[in-house]
Amino acid sequence: MSTTRRRFLINSTLATAATVAACRSSGAPTLLTTSTRSVVQTLPGMPTTDGAGVQLMRVIGQPALRHLDPFVLLDRIHSDDPNGYIRGFPDHPHRGFETVTVMLDGRMRHRDSRGNHGLITGGGAQWMTAGRGIIHSEMPEQEQGLLSGFQLWINLPSKEKMCAQEYQDLTPDRLAEGKLNAAGSVARVIAGEANGLVGPVHQRATAPLLMTLALEDDQPFEVDVPENHAAFAFVHRGEVNIGPESRSTATPEGTLALLGPGKRIRLRARNQRSGVLLAAARPLNEAIVQHGPFVMNTEAEIQRAIDDYRSGVLDKS
Ligand code: CO
Repeated sequence: MSTTRRRFLINSTLATAATVAACRSSGAPTLLTTSTRSVVQTLPGMPTTDGAGVQLMRVIGQPALRHLDPFVLLDRIHSDDPNGYIRGFPDHPHRGFETVTVMLDGRMRHRDSRGNHGLITGGGAQWMTAGRGIIHSEMPEQEQGLLSGFQLWINLPSKEKMCAQEYQDLTPDRLAEGKLNAAGSVARVIAGEANGLVGPVHQRATAPLLMTLALEDDQPFEVDVPENHAAFAFVHRGEVNIGPESRSTATPEGTLALLGPGKRIRLRARNQRSGVLLAAARPLNEAIVQHGPFVMNTEAEIQRAIDDYRSGVLDKS
């Protein structure tokens, strides 16, 4: 077994939260409030196509939810029909934010104009900081079978929009995996920290927590996040009650639950084999001007991105 995979048996989320608070270094505030976040809105994905005809559900970035600062877009891809995904996402540009690909099943091949390439496989992820600009392709490396996963766009603050590009290939063994109980529920942390599980991505401007949960029984899962973080849970399989026990919201498969203010996130699966993508991050509270794959602060910066792309210098220093 890889030495980089971290396994924990978390018997009690409460005990774990206390341990985390006690171990936290420096001046971080202790966990005094435990207000549990309620669901303020549920939203199904909107069917659309992108790339060269890939069928997907747009969750964040659709008319009913343009942005969830700092999240700019969330796409759900889930298809066992090759006609729905085989043409993939050929070369296209990005500037001004980070793209995160989370694969549940299947394989996608990434290549970019900075010379990076990698294969994103089920259970793995990829974290790409487009920064000043990158041109990349994301192509399914399979001709049949299930392709299932997400793409999440996380905005960068104005002072980092033109930063150098960065690429992190997160093979499944690099994620922090924790078994939650004897029923086989599993948490996998990509970014940030949850109940002692520390994901490989950290030190991002928006201090994100990004994780997947596979829930096999109705034991609640709880995690504390900073109170001012924006947060959502997307139920990609089964059905999950989200929020305080007394007024939780039943959230069915294919639905985003937007979480209100509070510290604690609480989920309880209503079905075995429930699956959730859980995310929280610090809002940037800056103007957002988006033109397709460019996300900047002003119209002038968007025009500059279009000009740079046309003249072939989008990804140049
Ligand atoms: Co892309």
